[in-house]
Amino acid sequence: MKWCSKSVTASAVVLLFSVCAPVHASMQMAVDYGCLNCHGAYPRGEAPSFERLADKLVKYKGDDAALAAKVASYRAGEPMEHIEAHERISLDAATRLLRWLAEGGK
Ligand code: HEC
Repeated sequence: MKWCSKSVTASAVVLLFSVCAPVHASMQMAVDYGCLNCHGAYPRGEAPSFERLADKLVKYKGDDAALAAKVASYRAGEPMEHIEAHERISLDAATRLLRWLAEGGK
């Protein structure tokens, strides 16, 4: 977001701050959390690409209750299938990342 670094008039600062502050997840956040190691353009093993995940998660878009339930099961993992990157992430970060994916992951 190039325009975030532009100098802005005072009246726009508040608006821009709410847009640019890291409240929402982004591809950069997914990179920082190592998600791309498995879910990148060349997914590893069983891992679906982010594009496929976004298709899968779109049904949670705008439905915070369903998203919260999904986040909980995502962090808990399956009994026979532990994915460390999914489990060690905080509730807050997981919610942001999954919401970002539900909104298209772009
Ligand atoms: C070590 C590899 C690995 C890493 C790192 C990883 N994942 Fe995954 N992820 C997987 C695999 C494998 C699956 C598929 C599991 C399945 O289909 O049961 C998966 C599935 C998912 C799903 C779908 C879950 C579902 O129930 O449909 C989401 C959402 C997801 N990953 C998000 C993330 C996010 C966000 C990160 C970064 C914090 C991340 N993953 C990091 C391997 C990984």
